[in-house]
Amino acid sequence: MIGTGYVGLVTGACFADLGNSVVCVDKNDEKIAMLNNGEVPIFEPGLEEIVKKNSLSGRLKFSSNISASIKKSDFIFICVGTPSSKNKRSANLKYVFQVSKDISRNINKFKIIVTKSTVPVTTGDKIEKIISKRKSKKYFEVISNPEFLREGEAIRDFRFPDRIVIGSNNNKITRRMRNLYEPLIKKGAHFFSTNRRGAEVIKYASNAFLATKISYINEIANLCEKIDVNVEDVSLGIGLDQRIGSRFLRAGPAYGGSCFPKDTKALTVTGDLFKSNLSIIKSVIKSNEKRRKLLTLRVQKILSNKIKNKKIAFLGVTFKPNTDDMRQSSSLSMIPFLAKKGAKINYYDPTGQKKEFEKFKSVTFFNDVYKACKGNDLVIIHTEWEEFKALDFKKLSKRKKIKIFDMRNLYSEKSMKKSGFEYYSIGR
Ligand code: UDX
Ligand code: UDX
Repeated sequence: MIGTGYVGLVTGACFADLGNSVVCVDKNDEKIAMLNNGEVPIFEPGLEEIVKKNSLSGRLKFSSNISASIKKSDFIFICVGTPSSKNKRSANLKYVFQVSKDISRNINKFKIIVTKSTVPVTTGDKIEKIISKRKSKKYFEVISNPEFLREGEAIRDFRFPDRIVIGSNNNKITRRMRNLYEPLIKKGAHFFSTNRRGAEVIKYASNAFLATKISYINEIANLCEKIDVNVEDVSLGIGLDQRIGSRFLRAGPAYGGSCFPKDTKALTVTGDLFKSNLSIIKSVIKSNEKRRKLLTLRVQKILSNKIKNKKIAFLGVTFKPNTDDMRQSSSLSMIPFLAKKGAKINYYDPTGQKKEFEKFKSVTFFNDVYKACKGNDLVIIHTEWEEFKALDFKKLSKRKKIKIFDMRNLYSEKSMKKSGFEYYSIGR
């Protein structure tokens, strides 16, 4: 596994857990040192014990020596980051191409090179070109095997995937990939193969569709607020249609994470490149970006446009629960905006203090929910962590009339109004 981030480490540990011998490589030496020390650098439920168990059994190793690791491996999974590039739209593939060069220098026997990272369609062709500059095609095959891991549920998503997608132009290699995934297929995972570019597009089209579903219900939520309808009823009502499906229809603040924002943009760049305008996805991107501002304006309105010196508490700042990942979290635009307007912001997150807010002196981390909320004018539930689902609001603040903006609809309006709180939520 080249690249030991959320994707490489989880996939490597889980492959080891299936009985394979795996070496996870990373250029970040301290990350490798931590892992060799039995510490796991990311917050992913269940990952620590799988890493420990398989390191102990000797099946899972960590190394910063990319050449030796490539030489002794049959399958080389490329899991390095493919972040949005400077132009904020296309995927930055410099790491992928760098690793491809490293691989081309260390092909001592036949290698199956697998892009696990989300890479724009035709990247496999480019990797193949880079490697065949140095090594003839008979010594390697480049294929696509995109990951569909959700942070916070990555291990479950690896073990019980809805589908395993292989993109290869060579049936023999497809069969070898099928063998590798046999233990999951035996337990019911669908194994689906297509050509390499097909698999590359499936990953983007899948993420973009999920992002579209979320933006769709977020805009319906805006309408519901104007016509006194509860968006949760609409989500349930349409989700019962098997063709729509009820998941990813939860209205909330804008979608965030390391994938949806970058993958939707990268897919529209591919569309433009091949002169096939993906107008729906472009509008999803615009809608999601507008939503961050919209919700911040809602906060101002709740505070009757007097933000200066107001005290606001954020409960949860990560882009979703069960992860420490802040990438593209909507809190990254809301908190600085409100702080610049003169608000005093307290925040609590189960995964601890965030470096992203250290430069704001009016933003303070508390490692206790109630301390964070004490004496505040407004409490915002930003991330739907389990521990926010049964808050003792009376204890939250001595004030009778605290304002609560529940951005994840964790509570029922009726019960909150009954207990006398000024309660705001999404789409209700
Ligand atoms: C990333 C992308 O976000 C995701 O879309 C893609 O599917 C897989 O790669 P993630 O694991 O979250 O997923 O990336 P990140 O957490 O940034 O980890 C990438 C790792 O690769 C880092 O640890 C980085 O140090 C390492 N890396 C990067 C290398 O080892 N070599 C390189 O040349 C570049
Ligand atoms: C996503 C895809 O789900 C996964 O298949 C892919 O491999 C990587 O990208 P992830 O980004 O980890 O996974 O998180 P996800 O659970 O999809 O949530 C993404 C964003 O959408 C979060 O900000 C979340 O809060 C938001 N979301 C999700 C909603 O607002 N409503 C929903 O109903 C679901």
